[in-house]
Amino acid sequence: MSAPSDHRFLEGSFAPVTEEITAYDLPVTGSLPAGLSGRYLRNGPNPLGLDDPDYHWFLGAGMVHGVRLRDGKAEWYRNRWVRSKAVAAQHDEKWPGGPVHENLDFAANTHIIAHAGRTLATVEAGPLPYELTDELDTIGSCDFGGTLPGGFAAHTKLDRATGELHAIAYFWAWDHVQHVVVDPAGQVTATTDIPVPDGPMMHDFALTGRYVVLLDLPVTFSLKAATSGKEMPYVWNPGHQARVGLLPRDGSAPVRWIGLEPCWVFHCLNAYDDQQGTVVLDLCQYDQSFDVSTLWHAHGPVTLDRWVIDPAAGTITQQRLDDRGQEFPRVDDRIVSRPHRYGYSVQIGEVTRAITAAGDFGDDAFSNAILKHDLAHGTVQAHEFGRDATAGEAVFAPSAPDAGEDDGYVMAFVHNPDRGAADLVILAAQDFTADPVARVHLPARIPLGFHGSWLPDR
Ligand SMILES: [Fe+2]
Repeated sequence: MSAPSDHRFLEGSFAPVTEEITAYDLPVTGSLPAGLSGRYLRNGPNPLGLDDPDYHWFLGAGMVHGVRLRDGKAEWYRNRWVRSKAVAAQHDEKWPGGPVHENLDFAANTHIIAHAGRTLATVEAGPLPYELTDELDTIGSCDFGGTLPGGFAAHTKLDRATGELHAIAYFWAWDHVQHVVVDPAGQVTATTDIPVPDGPMMHDFALTGRYVVLLDLPVTFSLKAATSGKEMPYVWNPGHQARVGLLPRDGSAPVRWIGLEPCWVFHCLNAYDDQQGTVVLDLCQYDQSFDVSTLWHAHGPVTLDRWVIDPAAGTITQQRLDDRGQEFPRVDDRIVSRPHRYGYSVQIGEVTRAITAAGDFGDDAFSNAILKHDLAHGTVQAHEFGRDATAGEAVFAPSAPDAGEDDGYVMAFVHNPDRGAADLVILAAQDFTADPVARVHLPARIPLGFHGSWLPDR
């Protein structure tokens, strides 16, 4: 096994960009659906310099890339760093200000969502979200009008039926994680502290009609790693029991914990309650150990799996849904917490290569595809983009607010090697392997990053 390059997250598809760009009236190949009016935004790390030999991909200052679509036109592309104190200082600007949790001011780099009229760049492990304008300028950090007691989370789940936004906050100095509910008006209305040992990383979670589903897995905070100067002090901890927790949303009972074999999960596709009183949870699972501190020591691919959790029997039944390496699973946001049939994920050869076993280029090492899963029929379609055309997370946009599941578009930033810049690629979800409906040609590269949202006009 060869050692990873010190700079592998500063090179190639990951290489940060150095400029903020505003471009109008973008060229389009194909035809943008007139019904798609809104913004596609995506967050990701974009360090301000290239001179940090210990740079960890998770710790670059957040940069949000956005494309505004309206009436069949691509009105603009913008990319903006989130103005934390440090980022503002680097730009010789006044820091926009706002609350700070535990002295952890950070340019939130992981996700971008909208809730209660706010556009929020989010991150986990302590820092607060940053609120942005519709045009991606930073308004300031956000603690939901002073109602959030601690830090927030990168991943949230919006229950469209209740309008409540759910999150799981964690922070190394806590002896618990915290379930947070933000109401439709943008105020935190409930928090529940859930005791957990060892300070686990809880990057994502799931929501059903009845439960908040917690993933307490053996990646935990390490004071030793922190004091040795590791920037990302979360390490594989074989002494930490892997378990799944079901927290009743109505507060009727404490968490029901169920143990399982050690594994790692960054992302859930979705979860729901089924008729038998069990919970169905689809997710991307890394078999065995995974060292978040290096993003290197994974064994085997990350696969799409289904866990059926039976709280009465105290069992978890695991089934492999798709064994190709994939990440960034997404469902139609409108059906989060309710039964889904379709899911979308990304098979990214270069990222897979970077985060799994070293030096071993599998057949799919240069495969860059977006996958569509029909979980009712057990079929998968792949939209291949070809070598060097790395695709980012794919997000579903319905063709109309009341359109059915899968009736709409799947969009992602995809690197266009011919132009040396990114395209916003829009696929028809129901004609998935056909040529894209539209490719919006952006004026710059977009480094591989994390998560985003399609935010239709209000
Ligand atoms: Fe994530």
